[in-house]
Amino acid sequence: MKNAAILTYGCQMNVNESAKIKKILKNMGYNITEDISKADAIFLNTCTVREGAAIQIYGKLADLKIIKEKRGTIIGITGCFAQEQGEELAKKFPIIDIVMGNQNIGKIPSAIEKIESGDFKHIIYTGEEDELPPRLDAEFDSKRTASIPITYGCNNFCTYCIVPYVRGRERSVPMAQILDEVKGFVEKDYKEIMLLGQNVNSYGNDLKTKENFATLLEEICKIEGEFLVRFVSPHPKDFGDDVIDVIAKNEKIARSLHIPVQAGSTKILELMNRKYTKEKYLKLVEKIKIKIPGVALTTDIIVGFPNENEEDFLDTLDIVDKVKFDIAFMFMYSSRKGTAAAKMDGQLDQEVKKERLKRLIDLQNQKSKETSIVYEGKIVRVLVDGPSKKNKEVLSGRTSTNKVVIFTGDKELEGTFVNVKINECRTWSLYGEIIN
Ligand code: 5AD
Ligand code: SF4
Repeated sequence: MKNAAILTYGCQMNVNESAKIKKILKNMGYNITEDISKADAIFLNTCTVREGAAIQIYGKLADLKIIKEKRGTIIGITGCFAQEQGEELAKKFPIIDIVMGNQNIGKIPSAIEKIESGDFKHIIYTGEEDELPPRLDAEFDSKRTASIPITYGCNNFCTYCIVPYVRGRERSVPMAQILDEVKGFVEKDYKEIMLLGQNVNSYGNDLKTKENFATLLEEICKIEGEFLVRFVSPHPKDFGDDVIDVIAKNEKIARSLHIPVQAGSTKILELMNRKYTKEKYLKLVEKIKIKIPGVALTTDIIVGFPNENEEDFLDTLDIVDKVKFDIAFMFMYSSRKGTAAAKMDGQLDQEVKKERLKRLIDLQNQKSKETSIVYEGKIVRVLVDGPSKKNKEVLSGRTSTNKVVIFTGDKELEGTFVNVKINECRTWSLYGEIIN
C-alpha cells in the first residue's frame, strides 16, 4: 500500500482543507502516515501570511529533496504560499511536482495521475480563486470537532494582509448547504462545529437573499442535539448587535469569542485600514461583556506596524490591560510584497519590533493568568477531548470558554459533556474533579 503525508501550516482554513486532502488521498488508496520518510506522496499545505512561513517551507523542501531522491516521492505544494508563488515555486525547486491553490484541491487525483504518467514535468493549478470551490468531504483529526468554511476570500484589504490577494474576493456558501453540513456532523456525533471564514460576520453580504451571520447562527442553534458552535474570525467593524443578541440567547454558541484587535492606537488602526478606533473596539468589548456574562475573549495583535511609535504601542498595551484577553496571538509586523503597508514609509527596525513583542507578551501572560484564577472553586461544564496529550492517565477537555481542564476519569467519557469542580488554576490549564 502506498503512503501519503500531509503537513499543514497556517490557519484553521488550511487545517480544514488538509482534512479534505487527506480524504481525497485515502479515497485514492493511500494510507495516511505522519512519517514523511515513508511517504510516496507528500503535500505541504502552506501559508504566506507572515514571512516566517516561507522560510519554514524552504527548510522543509530541503528535507523532502532527500526523501524524493530515495523513494521517488510525489511532492505537492498547496495553500496560500503555493497560490501566491505559482509556477515560480516549481522553477525554484525542481523537486516539486504539483503546485496548487486550495480552490483546486479537488483536482489532486488527476494531477497525481498526470505526474505518474511521466508526460508532465509539473502540474500548476493556481487559477480560479473567485468561485466557490466544489464541496468536498473531509477526514478530521478529531472525532469531536468538525469545521465548515462559510465564506471564502476577503474584501477588507487590511493594509498589512496578503490574504485578499491570494484567496480572492469574499464568497459566501449558501445557508442551506451549511445547515445541511452541520446536521450531518451532529448526526455523526461531532460535538463542536467550527465555522470558518476570513471575516465570518460579513457572511451573506454577497448573497441575493437576506441571510446574514446572525440568521445563520440562529438557524444552526435550532438544530437538535448537544453541540457547541465556534467561529473564527469575526471583524470588529462588522460585529453587530444582532450577532451579539443571538449569541447571548443561545448557549449552544461557545462563550469564547476571537475578536482580532491588531493594534491599540487609532492612528495605527487607520493606517491598517481596520475601520474602527480604539474607543469603538473598547465599546464593543464592553457591550459583549455585559450582554454575554462570563464570555472569554481572544485576539490577534501585530506590533511594529510602520510608523508605530512608543505612544502608539502604549495604546496596544492599554487595550490588553483593559480587555483582559484569555489568549492573544501576538506577531511582529512582517512586510508582505504587494500589500499597501509594504510600500509605506516609516518601516521599523527588527530590534524595536522584538522589544515591543517581548513587552506585550509579558503583559499578556499576566492577563492570561488573571483570566484563569477566577475559575478556582467553580463548577464548569466540560467537553471531554480524551486522554491528555502530556499525561495519558488523565483526561483533558475544554469549557465553553475554551479553557483547558485536566481531571481524572474514564476514557469512555471522551466526546461527552461532564461537570468538573476546579481545584487549581494555572495560566494555561485548570485542574479539577468530576462531580455528578
Ligand atoms: N505581519 C504580521 N502579522 C500579520 N497577520 C496578518 N498579516 C500579517 C503581517 N503582514 C496576523 C494578523 C491576523 C493573523 C491571522 O495574522 O494578526 O489576524
Ligand atoms: Fe486579512 Fe483583514 Fe481580511 Fe483578515 S480581514 S483576512 S486581516 S484583509
